[in-house]
Amino acid sequence: MPLVPMKQMLDEAIKGDYGVGAYNVNNMEQIQGIMRAASETRSPVIIQASRGALKYTNMAYIKYLAAAAVEDNPGIPIVLHLDHGNSLETCKEAIELGFTSVMIDGSLREDSKTPTTFKENVKVTREVVDYAHEFGVSVEGELGTLGGIEDGVGSGKVMLTDPEEAVKFIKLTGVDALALAIGTSHGAYKFKVKPTLDMDIINKVVEKIPGVPLVMHGASSVPQELIEVINKYGGRLEKTMGVPMESIKEAIKRGIRKINVDTDGRLAMTGAIRKYLGENPDAFDPRTYFGAAREAVYQTVKGKMIDFGTAGHAGDYKPMTLEEMKRIYK
Ligand code: G3H
Ligand code: 13P
Ligand code: ZN
Repeated sequence: MPLVPMKQMLDEAIKGDYGVGAYNVNNMEQIQGIMRAASETRSPVIIQASRGALKYTNMAYIKYLAAAAVEDNPGIPIVLHLDHGNSLETCKEAIELGFTSVMIDGSLREDSKTPTTFKENVKVTREVVDYAHEFGVSVEGELGTLGGIEDGVGSGKVMLTDPEEAVKFIKLTGVDALALAIGTSHGAYKFKVKPTLDMDIINKVVEKIPGVPLVMHGASSVPQELIEVINKYGGRLEKTMGVPMESIKEAIKRGIRKINVDTDGRLAMTGAIRKYLGENPDAFDPRTYFGAAREAVYQTVKGKMIDFGTAGHAGDYKPMTLEEMKRIYK
């Protein structure tokens, strides 16, 4: 089966009342770990690449690694999604590469730092929707800003989404999915104590527009055991907390359908590599420690697929092609 449009995958998640994880990738081991988890749990899956990932992999590698994932897992619906696109140009590049979904993060200017006005956000998002839908490609927008900064991306300030504006934004732009800011942030250092997220924002948007899948960014749980392994084997991460799994489950019940996870995959890999090299000081074959990292990604992602309710849904529907999506958008 070819790569699947994200709109179909998330619409199906609404019907089945579950969440789909969108896992950030930069290399083969991450993709293999995620795909093993998807295959064993029979889960549809979103593989997403940030602009940083596209730069790191020199673009073509991501395209062909995703193609390998498809070939290796014929029964698993896979979306290839651009995470935090900063302009129409970046989205065009991803579509050219074969991505079946793009995010235009119009909550920030092209510098990925300065917050935009509602009007600016609508303008750039509408442009991307008009362009992407011509190719049958799905579009995720964002309204409101998260805290936290990843590789210089993010304003560092939290501006929670106004539900009334979100409803207007969806109508004006025609986005297929919308990322809400409900109090989460990117990266490992999210919270010092157990967070209170503004879950009512989700209900208020769903009440008005029930058919539009909502997205939670900054959804890593930052498991303490991963922090402990890293620190036990020479790391120096500070005390921190992520988004508790019960909060994510609650958000899914209320209407979140796409859950973005990057940090937990990073922590899992780092812990496994530190542990392997710490326990095997004579090791120098990269397959040994990258193999351990791949196993750790698999374990982490498998748990999420079960917790998000994605497990078991891979065969629920016949995936659409981009050609079929094009006809639906017309
Ligand atoms: O939301 C940001 C993601 O965690 C991607 O991070 O730009 O460092 O690849 P990155
Ligand atoms: P985390 O840093 O919580 O994993 O969030 C990732 C994300 O939102 C990617 O867009
Ligand atoms: Zn994000």
